[in-house]
Amino acid sequence: MELIFATHNLEKLKEIQNLIGSNIKILSLNDIGYSREINETGQTFEENAFIKANTIYQIYNKPVFADDSGLEVKALNGRPGVFSARFAGEGYNSFDPHIKKLLDELKGIKQREARFRTVICLIINDKVNFFEGIINGHIAEYQSGVNGFGYDPIFIPNGYSKTFAEMNIYEKNKISHRAKAVSKLIKFIMSDPHLF
Ligand code: IMP
Repeated sequence: MELIFATHNLEKLKEIQNLIGSNIKILSLNDIGYSREINETGQTFEENAFIKANTIYQIYNKPVFADDSGLEVKALNGRPGVFSARFAGEGYNSFDPHIKKLLDELKGIKQREARFRTVICLIINDKVNFFEGIINGHIAEYQSGVNGFGYDPIFIPNGYSKTFAEMNIYEKNKISHRAKAVSKLIKFIMSDPHLF
């Protein structure tokens, strides 16, 4: 059984292949010979995940899923959201400008609640399914930690006193938005032996 993951990110692919096990082979866009980028033109995570999965489904007509995620800050009305990767603009080769912009916008603001959210869109047998994962927390005043990526150095999950960047990958993966969405996807796939 094969399932396409509409991504060029081999780290994400490896992570999900490990979680799913060897009964289902996960294929990346490179594996199926699709070398172009799919533009994320949606206004929501759901739209972007659907756009990516559907672009591939329309061409290959095979089971496919895609994900989209980002950081939503309450005091900023959910921003940066779908713009998480390009909050301070495009073309930077460091993530610091995005973190700096966020900390600047929150300067002096006490309400610092935020959440990471992932949405996965799976298209199989012409049916579209969505799976969501959320981790609630707050934005720290300063950066701490060197692990992870993106906004990890300023995100402190509820129930913890350290940032995602101060956790190792195993600790983060137990509670992360992505892990939660992936685990719902896996449960769905495993619960129906006639899906493929
Ligand atoms: P993607 O959709 O998973 O590629 O995530 C889009 C953007 O959201 C990333 O470039 C990061 O800025 C942010 N993001 C998503 N997940 C995480 C995370 O686990 N830690 C830190 N930043 C994240």
